[in-house]
Amino acid sequence: MKVDDINSITVLGAGNMGHGIAEVAALAGYNVVLRDIKEEFVQKGYDQIEWSLNKLAEKDRLSQEDADAALDRVTAVVDLGEAVSDADVVIEAVPEKMAIKKDVYTELEAHAPEHTVFATNTSSLSITELSEVTERPERFCGMHFFNPPVRMDLVEVISGAHTDDETLDVIEDLAEEMGKTPVRVRKDSPGFIVNRILVPLMNEAAWTVHAGDATIAEVDSTTKYDLGLPMGSFELADQVGIDVGYHVLEYMHEVLGDAYAPCPLLSEKVEEETLGKKTGKGFYDYE
Ligand code: CAA
Repeated sequence: MKVDDINSITVLGAGNMGHGIAEVAALAGYNVVLRDIKEEFVQKGYDQIEWSLNKLAEKDRLSQEDADAALDRVTAVVDLGEAVSDADVVIEAVPEKMAIKKDVYTELEAHAPEHTVFATNTSSLSITELSEVTERPERFCGMHFFNPPVRMDLVEVISGAHTDDETLDVIEDLAEEMGKTPVRVRKDSPGFIVNRILVPLMNEAAWTVHAGDATIAEVDSTTKYDLGLPMGSFELADQVGIDVGYHVLEYMHEVLGDAYAPCPLLSEKVEEETLGKKTGKGFYDYE
């Protein structure tokens, strides 16, 4: 498949990343199906796309006409068979748990057309292990966007052990069509490149506060104003979802060892379900 053969893209999972990726694909002119397991989830994702497109128009980042046209290209669906019947590419953005993703791929394989390329937006999990659940491991790769997808330029394109070059080329070209800058990640290692570096930074920030060595405000002001990052570490954890960072750490801890042990400050937030912006409260309040 070549990038010009792609007309229809299905995004599985309408959460933070899923709806953001669907928005980016629709803005690039693709017909997009956004799918989640419940009507209320998929509707919420669709509403978020509408909010974001209107916000971009309000900020003069695009015209209201283009925002409306992009929204018209998005269809919200619950039934998996219906969602993927015309898909040239499926981008999966379901929760960051190996077991959940494997179940989704098993079900997806039963419904997707033979030519469809599968791309996972996993933040850390093994592309090779996920691809082996399907009957098309050569047409399977990582396509990792950053939060919020509509504002972040980078996309990691990750090769699994079985991925063929044609798949990597077409997904890299697709990222470019979406206005992104793809970086090919040669090795399928936990967290790939960005999260291998960024998530331990968030974890170390949490350990620093947990040890009583600094406050959240002190850590965030130093990461933002001294290290020059666009957000403080805790602000960023709230932006990406504390649960997302936590699950990445859990996996890196399991595979790479104790240096990646998640700080209890993160696990407490996950237990309380105060996960950041998306729940209205995390390390900061958003209500
Ligand atoms: N769509 C549209 N508008 C949005 C938006 C979205 N998805 N998200 C935020 N905005 C809006 C805000 O509501 C705000 O609007 P108001 O001013 O009306 O309140 C406006 O955008 C802010 O935009 P600005 O350009 O004025 O602000 P900024 O210069 O701070 O940029 C940012 C915002 C691009 C998010 C910037 O803070 C940034 O780059 N942050 C770092 C994000 C980052 O590092 N992401 C990667 C995380 S790691 C990851 O995602 C990987 C993983 O797998 C865990």
